[in-house]
Amino acid sequence: MIPVYDRRKLYLDDKDAIDAAVARVLASGRYDWGEEVPAFEAELAAWLGVRHFVATGSGTAALKAALRALRIGPGEEVITVANTDMANSTAIHSVGARVVWVDIDPLTRCMDPAACAAAITPRTAAILPVDLYGHPCDIRAFRQLADRHGLALIEDACLALGAEVDGQLIGRLADITCFSFSSGKHLGAMGNAGGCATQDADIAERLRLVSGDGQDRARHHRQPRPLDLRHEEESHNDRMDEIQAAILRAKLPSLDRTLAQRRAQAARYTEALAGLVETPAEQPGTRHAWRNYVIETEDRAALARHLAAQGVQCNALYNPPMHLQPVYARLGHQRGNLPRTEASADRLLGLPIGPHLQMAEIETVIAAMRRWNGAR
Ligand SMILES: Cc1ncc(COP(=O)(O)O)c(C=O)c1O
Repeated sequence: MIPVYDRRKLYLDDKDAIDAAVARVLASGRYDWGEEVPAFEAELAAWLGVRHFVATGSGTAALKAALRALRIGPGEEVITVANTDMANSTAIHSVGARVVWVDIDPLTRCMDPAACAAAITPRTAAILPVDLYGHPCDIRAFRQLADRHGLALIEDACLALGAEVDGQLIGRLADITCFSFSSGKHLGAMGNAGGCATQDADIAERLRLVSGDGQDRARHHRQPRPLDLRHEEESHNDRMDEIQAAILRAKLPSLDRTLAQRRAQAARYTEALAGLVETPAEQPGTRHAWRNYVIETEDRAALARHLAAQGVQCNALYNPPMHLQPVYARLGHQRGNLPRTEASADRLLGLPIGPHLQMAEIETVIAAMRRWNGAR
């Protein structure tokens, strides 16, 4: 089977560096509040070209911290999309705000700026677009909207580490850009990890506070350690573990190479599959990070069955969209509320992509896709 993910293969590819990183942390005896997290934050900030990076325990924790750091709260609305992980909705609800889902641009499958503008009310506090599958959202349009209406802008780049807009890596245009480093992401930990990029030192300080038990992190590094434990703000323990930070540091040097692999695989798919199915777009002025290669077709179920029979695994993220999930039935949404989101969710299918695959395996997937077309 050609798998969508193969985390064990990725571990084996970097085994020596990862084993050494884990052994270093274990031998240090510092599993918490150590030096690995600050070192990872500095290294990732340098890679992204941002002023500050604050590590968290997951992408969900990064979104929660971002909303709390920007003081979004009860009675306020946050505009986001429904074709995404549940993390966006849970993070918004966790601060007591209301989720407002709006429709997408069918080309990029990211939030439609016009739909967002139409949903702004006096209660709107923030805009939270998602860089779906690694394609950057129209962040310049959202920046303008946010500035015009005095709103916070949080970019969910959990699927988009390495995406670019106008020749620059994403991470600078939103007030806070959130990333996930869970094990199947561009830069994957051995478990959960995430973090927030920001250009603003005060926001970075608040992110540390609200993701770290409301404690000032610098106090933990002071010697001798102060005897009192001060909590400045009621907060969760949403920090990254030392061991995950050490693993991410070990894998960071491979990130440029694995991004290039993803881009080469996506380019080959697009060249070979054009005309056969709807291939994903890459808008001019942007560079896709290709966390997922998601095609659209009317015959999704038949194609998925055919591919499975040919030894090719595929997936269908995010389907159904959040507004139609059983958990949110209480919010009273129904089919037809977000027609472009729903149409995409009904047709999408993710093909295997990523550094666990060789180009020969991409060719095998392409051959299986061609056989399906021939059989129709
Ligand atoms: C778009 C998006 N946002 C947020 C998250 C949540 O990240 P995590 O699983 O690290 O909590 C994910 C997870 O895949 C995601 O795809």
